[in-house]
Amino acid sequence: MSLWSRRKFFLTSLAGSAAAGIANLFERTTPAAAASGLTPSVGNGVRPAAPAAQGKRPLIISSANGVNALGRGMDILKKGGDTLDAVVAAVTIVEDDPNDDSVGYGGLPNEQGEVELDASVMHGPTHRAGSVASVRRIKNVSRLAKTVMERTNHVMIVGDGARRFAVDEGFEEMNLLTEHSRKIWLAWKASTSFNWRPGIDSPEWKDKMSSIFEDTPEDQALLAYAQRVITDPPTGTIPCMAVNEKGDISATTTTSGLAWKIPGRVGDSPIIGAGCYVDNEVGAAGSTGKGEENIKICGGHTIVEMMRKGMSPKDACLEAMARVARNYSNDKKKLATFHIYFYAINKDGQHGAASLWRNGYEPSKRAMYAVHDGTESKLVECAPYLDEIGTSD
Ligand code: GLY
Repeated sequence: MSLWSRRKFFLTSLAGSAAAGIANLFERTTPAAAASGLTPSVGNGVRPAAPAAQGKRPLIISSANGVNALGRGMDILKKGGDTLDAVVAAVTIVEDDPNDDSVGYGGLPNEQGEVELDASVMHGPTHRAGSVASVRRIKNVSRLAKTVMERTNHVMIVGDGARRFAVDEGFEEMNLLTEHSRKIWLAWKASTSFNWRPGIDSPEWKDKMSSIFEDTPEDQALLAYAQRVITDPPTGTIPCMAVNEKGDISATTTTSGLAWKIPGRVGDSPIIGAGCYVDNEVGAAGSTGKGEENIKICGGHTIVEMMRKGMSPKDACLEAMARVARNYSNDKKKLATFHIYFYAINKDGQHGAASLWRNGYEPSKRAMYAVHDGTESKLVECAPYLDEIGTSD
């Protein structure tokens, strides 16, 4: 049973303003919200803080793990650079970071211990897209997706073809597994099989983790973290989207996907219209979390089309979330087995994000996203679709 499914949850609803906004737009509640049976919260949930400085251009946003990287993208936007160059430059910092195990170098691997990366880009002004999936041994897959867009007649290249294309285009091949991600993978193996732990003839045989983690504070902290990601395999990702002073928009999403996945599994991140979507007349959207749920509702495209009809980025993200919940008849036990977030900006430089649960991936922390509106990069609370009040059984 996953960490989430061991928790009690209290259902609230769409954040009040979001529900009002959606209802006003259609003069009734939206079909997805109506199907969910949700009603507005009456003050028992903690409201997300109103995002500061709405409607500013240039603007760049990402999932929370990009908070220290958005400055690089903003520098490019302020100098009049291209919006796609800005978002790719920002996420490249996270792809290069060995301490971020959700993206690029050091990402948590598949069940065979191979890091497999997915990424996509969309360039609003030229209405172009590029994408790669299940790529091994190439670190900067957002730039690789951009290279597919710029240098081929294709939109998507996968697997070994993508790796060979990268080498042909001058990308360096490397082992993407760091010592950190290798140890966590070994711990996952040990937790799933008697074969990957000391045998009964070993003095260590009672403690399956002692052969992997040493008795140092660093390794014990890593063991505690490993226990969490073994119980609740993450799908960490970084979507990043930007609008410049003129109103041109681009986006990228890059990820190592679901930890311990079956080799070849592809999530939503490289799927144009799901993990990443841009319409230069309207805005952009992206997602993190369980990609399978997003693929089934074409979240990126759905959100942009909702914004085209007049919804704010936040309300559009909440409407996408209502469709995810509707796919499970709003069954909280089933919804409690995963997490998903949506993020969006519009052409006016407004931004918003929604999380399925009030909490982030760490149950004790609120769900947040990162925003740089030209002054500083900061974390802003996501609008929660469901509001947790319980802690454990
Ligand atoms: N959202 C990332 C994935 O599911 O792979």
